[in-house]
Amino acid sequence: MEEILRVEDLTKSFGGIVALDGVDFSVKKGLMNILIGPNGSGKTTLVNCITGFYQQDRGRVWFDEKEITGLAPYKVYSLGLVRTFQLPQPFQKLTVLENLLTAYGENPGESFIRAPFKRSWLGHEEKATEMAFKVLELLDLDRLWNSPASQLSGGQMKLVEAGRAIMSGAKMILMDEPAAGINPKLAQEVFAHFREMKEKVGVTFLIIEHRLDLVLKYVDYAFAMARGEIVAEGNPEKVLGDPVVVESYLGG
Ligand SMILES: Nc1ncnc2c1ncn2[C@@H]1O[C@H](COP(=O)(O)OP(=O)(O)OP(=O)(O)O)[C@@H](O)[C@H]1O
Ligand SMILES: [Mg+2]
Repeated sequence: MEEILRVEDLTKSFGGIVALDGVDFSVKKGLMNILIGPNGSGKTTLVNCITGFYQQDRGRVWFDEKEITGLAPYKVYSLGLVRTFQLPQPFQKLTVLENLLTAYGENPGESFIRAPFKRSWLGHEEKATEMAFKVLELLDLDRLWNSPASQLSGGQMKLVEAGRAIMSGAKMILMDEPAAGINPKLAQEVFAHFREMKEKVGVTFLIIEHRLDLVLKYVDYAFAMARGEIVAEGNPEKVLGDPVVVESYLGG
């Protein structure tokens, strides 16, 4: 399977705290990947360094066969590596459909996700709208297309964030605990939708998630961090039961 992301020797300290201690790993294209690890193990720092929000002290990053080491966040985003954020206040006032439409066209690069929507006889707006409704259907939000985003549940808001990423032309989506604060049943529904997006549009996910046991059946591959390093990776069930991983949580 083809590699979409590769990280080599990524190292980042804050004062005396070593948050990332020479992280090496790579992600295969088209998989639902989960990143677990106890509090403070470096998960968020890793995502922030990969996406250009933090500058690492050392190490290199490649995405989609290009080196992205040290690139600014907007550059990384425009290449199709998209880190989601909670919808900011102004976006909550927009409808669900408008939220998706405003993300369209932010990534000028050719994306395989967009390919079916490139029909030349459609105008830019028509293409965007057609694609937005396809994405909303996938996320089971099509009935809510005209509702203000502020009226959505926490779980539905996460789906809109992912939908915006897809509309922007993302090839890979990074999410930091999208299921935090959502009840277990809804968290599973959210993951089921992410999984469907992964399968239907071929996007790769890397999701930080504390409750791997809960979403196990939606996950293809797991990475576990402890003390700034990847300490285990592979089959999610095996990683979850790995003594080193279990110990890292107990030792927390
Ligand atoms: N901006 C920052 N300034 C100073 N220290 C930081 C900063 N960001 C992270 N750290 C420190 O780096 C270490 C790793 O933090 P990080 O947030 O990456 O962990 P995490 O695995 O995401 O934890 P959690 O599960 O609690 O979200 C911690 O010791 C944290 O206190
Ligand atoms: Mg974190």
